[in-house]
Amino acid sequence: MSAVDERAVTRSTAKEVVDQASRRRTFAVISHPDAGKSTLTEALALHARVIGQAGAVHGKAGRRGTVSDWMDMEKARGISITSAALQFEYHDAVINLLDTPGHADFSEDTYRVLTAVDAAVMLIDAAKGLEAQTMKLFAVCRHRGIPVLTVVNKWDRPGKDALELMDEISDRTGLTPTPLTWPVGIAGDFRGVLDRSDGTYRRFTRTAGGATIAPEETLSAEAAQDREGAAWQQAVEEVELLAASGQDHEQSLFLDGVTTPVLFASAVSNFGVGALLDTLVGMAPAPAGLSTVDGGTRALTDPFSAFVFKVQAGMDTAHRDRLAFIRICSGVFERGMVVTHAHTGRPFATKYAQHVFGRERESIDVAYPGDVVGLVNAAALGVGDTLYADKPVSFPPLTTFAPEHFAVCRGRDTAKHKQFRRGIEQLDSEGVVQVLRSDRRGDQAPVLAVVGPMQFEVATHRMEHEFGAPVELERLGYNLALRTDEASAPVVSTARGAEVLRRTNGEYVAVFSDKWGLRVFKEKHPDLLLESLVAAEL
Ligand code: G4P
Repeated sequence: MSAVDERAVTRSTAKEVVDQASRRRTFAVISHPDAGKSTLTEALALHARVIGQAGAVHGKAGRRGTVSDWMDMEKARGISITSAALQFEYHDAVINLLDTPGHADFSEDTYRVLTAVDAAVMLIDAAKGLEAQTMKLFAVCRHRGIPVLTVVNKWDRPGKDALELMDEISDRTGLTPTPLTWPVGIAGDFRGVLDRSDGTYRRFTRTAGGATIAPEETLSAEAAQDREGAAWQQAVEEVELLAASGQDHEQSLFLDGVTTPVLFASAVSNFGVGALLDTLVGMAPAPAGLSTVDGGTRALTDPFSAFVFKVQAGMDTAHRDRLAFIRICSGVFERGMVVTHAHTGRPFATKYAQHVFGRERESIDVAYPGDVVGLVNAAALGVGDTLYADKPVSFPPLTTFAPEHFAVCRGRDTAKHKQFRRGIEQLDSEGVVQVLRSDRRGDQAPVLAVVGPMQFEVATHRMEHEFGAPVELERLGYNLALRTDEASAPVVSTARGAEVLRRTNGEYVAVFSDKWGLRVFKEKHPDLLLESLVAAEL
């Protein structure tokens, strides 16, 4: 068969793309560290039976070491800095769970993952409620208009009152919680849930360490009353209160980001995990066409297109490779196809394409809208870049997030200035850090700006080990960055505790050390351009 015939055979029809896209649910879990994201990820994968025993995908403490060991630093810390996507089938659906790095400190990477998902699961620790990092990530979801499902986790442990948690969600996120299930038994005495869709009782039974799927038994309301007595009665009464205040699920309001369906779970015991998968499949949106810069839409059935949402270098020290993670927006991806890199107009051969999750890598031959593909040897690709086949397309740029930490970076070995320059350029293009410069500071002392301080550690480590240019960082006292312009820059730079720097693309960025000082300065100079770098209030 000739190559052309072969392509004709393997090329999928528009119907196939639509069918495949509609099976897909691409989402990420947003949570504060320790809320149980890794545990939930394992439990989800377990439910879909991709792994026989919980603990094989992610790990902490006793499970440490099962995660990525790509970077020495990760090994030392026992955490995963790298992230990608876990794909598994669940009934007829294909679930793409994008991994958000789970460490206490977080970086632009964490935010960027949310540019590639269609929905988010907000995971809350029942005892702690909404925590700082969850709120920051939620702000990105709100900004992007991503529907958010909420899971209250650790209900097996003493925690807050369920109704109180609902108030907290609505007060702090502005979303109206519409519980789909309601706990029977207070936090710490989790017996099961009342399924609000039909009023039945899903009773949970415990398994040792949650290593296998926890059997759930469905009981009628009468049987539940007999079995659980006061605990069931309380659940029934609270559910009546929810209904009276209109906290019922309505699909369009969920998709519009007005409400958030809520489930109660205990990830460690696998309780409520099946319900989450069913809810994702039943309610979360499938991939849809994407808006383009010219105001049009790249439909699912258009030729292949994708954007890079993450670039990772040095994941495999043995191979020194550079992976670019793309989210497919339209058409079919077939490994080996040659696509166009919109930024340079050059062809890009997708010879090596992989699923990457934790340490697992698997070759991908075909992928559809909603899927994530790791492209190997992607030296030319940068975050936000578009790839397409046949019909050119340009997607709006990915949001860059306002950095909150700043440091001057200097080479420790002046003889290595070439390596220094190359490394800084590389880290800038990958988006590991934002690089800001000014004439006053000079090219040898750029300012690195980051969302989370861990990005500094990654940059320092890579400058030394990957580029052979050891550096030292001097932290600056700024904590705010705003967009300004050439006309405003001279005046802005006279503000107390402020400085104006420029990005590599020429944009002017004003940095301030004091929120109140900035406010006073803005009031005094209302004519100057000083605007937020992100529309979302992070
Ligand atoms: P993270 O990825 O969000 O940071 O959280 P992770 O899953 O690592 O969970 C943090 C801790 O919370 C772990 O305990 C985990 O076992 C526990 N946990 C997760 N889900 C539940 C739950 O539903 N109920 C209870 N009671 N605990 C839960 P650890 O002691 O830090 O680690 P480990 O030794 O248990 O793994």
